[in-house]
Amino acid sequence: MPSAFRRCTLQAALLACLCVAMSPLRASASIVEKLRDDSDLSQATTLRRLIPVRFYSLLEQNIIANSTLTLRPCTVFVPTNAAFQRHHGPTHVLYHITTTPMTKDELIKVIPSDMGGNPSLYITKNRNGDIYVNNARIIPSLTVEMTNSLGMRQVMHIIDEVLVPLTALPTAKMEFTNLDAYQFMKQADILDIGENRLRSYRSQVTLMRKDNLYQSPGGHTFLIPVDEGFKQTTRSSLVDNKVIDGHVILNNVIFTAAAQMEVPQTTAAFEDNLKVTVSFFKQKDGKMYVKSNTLLGDAKHPTGVVLAEIVKGNIPVRNGVVHLIHRPLMIIDSTVTQFLQSFKDNENGALRKFYDVIMDNGGEVLTDISNLGEITILAPSNDAWEAKDVQNLIRNREKLRDILNMHIIKDKLNVDRIRQKNKNIIAQVPTVNNRTFLYFNIKEENGEEMITVEGGGVNATVLQADVAQTNGYVHIIDKVLGVPYTTVLEKLETDPMMSDTFKLGQFSAFNNQLNNTQRRFTYFVPRDKAWQKTKLDYPSTHKKLFMEDFSYHSRSILERHLVIADNVYTMNDLVAMTAASGDSILLPTYRDSLKVKVEEEAGHLHDEYASHEWTGYVITWNFKKINVYRPDVECTNGIIHVIDYPMLEERDVVVNGGSYPLGTNLCILFSNILMIAIAKFLFLNN
Ligand SMILES: *[C@@H]1O[C@H](CO)[C@@H](O)[C@H](O)[C@H]1NC(C)=O
Ligand SMILES: *[C@@H]1O[C@H](CO)[C@@H](O)[C@H](O)[C@H]1NC(C)=O
Ligand SMILES: *[C@@H]1O[C@H](CO)[C@@H](O)[C@H](O)[C@H]1NC(C)=O
Ligand SMILES: *[C@@H]1O[C@H](CO)[C@@H](O)[C@H](O)[C@H]1NC(C)=O
Repeated sequence: MPSAFRRCTLQAALLACLCVAMSPLRASASIVEKLRDDSDLSQATTLRRLIPVRFYSLLEQNIIANSTLTLRPCTVFVPTNAAFQRHHGPTHVLYHITTTPMTKDELIKVIPSDMGGNPSLYITKNRNGDIYVNNARIIPSLTVEMTNSLGMRQVMHIIDEVLVPLTALPTAKMEFTNLDAYQFMKQADILDIGENRLRSYRSQVTLMRKDNLYQSPGGHTFLIPVDEGFKQTTRSSLVDNKVIDGHVILNNVIFTAAAQMEVPQTTAAFEDNLKVTVSFFKQKDGKMYVKSNTLLGDAKHPTGVVLAEIVKGNIPVRNGVVHLIHRPLMIIDSTVTQFLQSFKDNENGALRKFYDVIMDNGGEVLTDISNLGEITILAPSNDAWEAKDVQNLIRNREKLRDILNMHIIKDKLNVDRIRQKNKNIIAQVPTVNNRTFLYFNIKEENGEEMITVEGGGVNATVLQADVAQTNGYVHIIDKVLGVPYTTVLEKLETDPMMSDTFKLGQFSAFNNQLNNTQRRFTYFVPRDKAWQKTKLDYPSTHKKLFMEDFSYHSRSILERHLVIADNVYTMNDLVAMTAASGDSILLPTYRDSLKVKVEEEAGHLHDEYASHEWTGYVITWNFKKINVYRPDVECTNGIIHVIDYPMLEERDVVVNGGSYPLGTNLCILFSNILMIAIAKFLFLNN
């Protein structure tokens, strides 16, 4: 800092900024010059733009603040103009001042403010270098340090939010200072915390003799459910001493802006026989939530996740911070149906749109859900329903019903059970919508677990897993299943079951056409497992197919699997067409046509993915029966049917060392067709 600048007081600097902000031309020339001459000009300019006129006048009008700035060393936290515009209610200037000068490096965890009773300010330093004072972030480049004319060291930090201390309502005739969390709960009725009342929870705390938890010195995070969350009359009796422990994060003061999202924090209820964590997360609309996760439960405390919206957060108390939440954590006392119904009264609730869509569809789905016993729902988030294609679908009542059913599993399926099903493979799970299966995949990415689920062509990500209810789970997902949003090409490229077929199509330019949105494809895609089977059956054919030099062959084989027509053919369509013709049907492909029979067969499915009764589709091609592993994967420009074996024969690739020219290959193809015809003739006449 140049010595000229050092000599001016912080107050003078503020005044200068004020003058510049109000009227650059009339500003005191000397100070403007000093600012202009400062080596860090960009900082000076930014400061001039950011320093709020209002805060300066508040400082000046407050006798204590004014004299502190003149007479004492200090640190001042100055909110930006933008912060003031967002702020409502009175501003407590002295809560922004402390009488120890501290640069960013010198800031200590808990700082007594200059306000009456010295209520604390809490400093959080994040891993990425961000520093917060309570819920306000310090803008790092704008800190100014100087010595005033009396030789007092003073530091000014610019912050992005006004600091709000805990105060009483104006109507309360009581003076009080610096309450701890216990006093906060006791006095809640006369505190400035909106309409929130804490009587139900407070009386449980007293009943369970947990007062001392809320009185304990140090810095903790207290999550306190408001009375609104106890409308269900039996609920407060479930708040026992363990549940109360689960609402407190000891020795960690977490303000929401500074909180690491989705990072589980150990609660006071974390011991050998009961393990409860709490984490913070934010919805896209900016709403903050907490969720408890009972990792290890007991008879009274079931495992699973409970979500609670923060209705009023970041209330500083003497021993930490309080967040008021809309319902108690850990308590699982409603059914899936009741949980969904709870969004009826909650305009901004996480599943409000899902609930509305179900009700607009007639509400039968909700009745079905309540009759199913154990159940798991994949619930699309509010955002998921905004997509244009989804909006169009909502008008089609019958289709929507099928789609909703695709989100319902008749089983209690949490992440642990998915993981068990999922050892190195993709778990397949039947839904209430007959013949639609869901496929789960769990992946580690940068140390974070990512769960995806695919249904009817849509690959959705699980945003919030394991929201526990008495009869099952709700997983919140980011897309509506069954409403396609990718082309056939994009699907092939990303689906873990179709990677070999994608790879084969890349050898030649075969795949390019599959992104054409003007076309309607029906593509029979052999899954990776299917190609592996051919490796056993026809090793040399398989080997050649997967060599780029033989791309001509792979291309002609893939062409056989790709039906190009004006419409797509669902499996049901193909069954109906086969039934109507009484025999095989011909489907148009690029070169000629594909002759198949498609039928339904009942049986037992048992393989590495799943084991259950099912009605499946079977394709008969060239006397071979091929199971349809995953029917009707819808895409924006077509439909994919994943099959268990390619339509392939050994003689498809009968070359040594090189590929046949086109003519020879057509010749082979022709002779194949001829042989099929002869064989068929013989077969039919036997
Ligand atoms: C604030 O202090 C300055 C002296 O540093 C004085 O000139 C000014 O009048 C004071 N303002 C008020 C409102 O007391
Ligand atoms: C689904 O299949 C079951 C038994 O196979 C049948 O009773 C039920 O009606 C089917 N539901 C739909 C919606 O087709
Ligand atoms: C969803 O797509 C991603 C790639 O984008 C893939 O890694 C994941 O396995 C897919 N999930 C399922 C269940 O198919
Ligand atoms: C396919 O088309 C979409 C637009 O419809 C485009 O965003 C995408 O990049 C294309 N993919 C390829 C591989 O060409």
